[in-house]
Amino acid sequence: MKALITGITGFAGSHLADHILKHYPEWKIYGFKRWRSRDENIIHLMDKVELHDVDVKDFTAVNRFIEEIKPDRIFHLAAQSFVPTSWKAPMETLNTNIAGQVNIFEAIRQHNLQDGTVVQIACSSEEYGMVHPDEVPIKETNPLRPLSPYAVSKVTQDYLGYQYHQSYGIKAIRTRTFNHTGPRRGEVFVTSNFCKQVALIEAKIQPPVIKVGNLEAKRDFTDVRDVVRAYWLAAEKCEPGEVYNIASNKAYRIQDVVDMLIKMASIKIDIEQDPERMRPSDVMILLGDYSKFNQRTGWKPEIPFEKTLEDTLNYWRKKIAANL
Ligand code: GDD
Repeated sequence: MKALITGITGFAGSHLADHILKHYPEWKIYGFKRWRSRDENIIHLMDKVELHDVDVKDFTAVNRFIEEIKPDRIFHLAAQSFVPTSWKAPMETLNTNIAGQVNIFEAIRQHNLQDGTVVQIACSSEEYGMVHPDEVPIKETNPLRPLSPYAVSKVTQDYLGYQYHQSYGIKAIRTRTFNHTGPRRGEVFVTSNFCKQVALIEAKIQPPVIKVGNLEAKRDFTDVRDVVRAYWLAAEKCEPGEVYNIASNKAYRIQDVVDMLIKMASIKIDIEQDPERMRPSDVMILLGDYSKFNQRTGWKPEIPFEKTLEDTLNYWRKKIAANL
């Protein structure tokens, strides 16, 4: 059996490869990566997975390798995934995320793989965007009111999954994942960024002040290792064409996250707001109801948020000590 992970060098992609290798060793893993991607997250996997230099925007390459591999499952995780970048480079974000999705579906369609290949699509809670206070915890039926070009790109991927299923019977499983974090998280994202700053402060490389953006926003965090377990179950057990929230059903103010990290730090740290870190429009609350996914798969998150933060902080401490 063959699993293809797009974005395998990334955060979720590399953890998913670890999960499959550990629990389903009979599966062969293929990965699409851009030739210029850093491979630090998959160094330990180099002789265990088969990698191909494929930019998902390049239809010729996507088409060729999907035809060659004929994967049983595709986990489509490659994306421009940082919300602020989508304001600076809206077209690039829309293009990468939407063209990448269409290219995968078109390759499946052209090679008549729709009966055998299941495609899990990494949609996002950002699609809900402007959520009203009486709409939490958010269900899949909530209106989508996207607040960034990134969110619009994810709404499009999500509905492409619906449309290609309706039009051609492609087995697309749409997972709307709420925030997830853990070791290997890109340094621009809030938890990882704050952990890195704490580690730099402890190492006396940064003055004892942590720079922050909007601390009033609330986010529902799940550990990445729980999330990749969910992706596997989604491809195995979920109904093609359907959409599922993956969340923890708990929300933390970003202020709470900084406070937790400051408590974990070995020295005293002050907080300073950096106007550069504020967004033109921020999603104020994301708190997800994952009962539909739980009923279908039995999944629930297992790793407490405190442990995730601790592991992420230790990841940065190690990286900084090793000067990586
Ligand atoms: N990045 C960042 N840096 N965010 C900050 C900071 C900071 O210094 N200070 C406060 N925040 C706030 C942001 O304004 C936002 O409200 C929240 O922290 C989380 O920001 P991010 O970690 O950048 O994530 P996101 O919520 O915008 O998007 C993430 O989650 C989505 C799922 O809901 C990304 O992983 C997306 O790719 C994903 O789809």
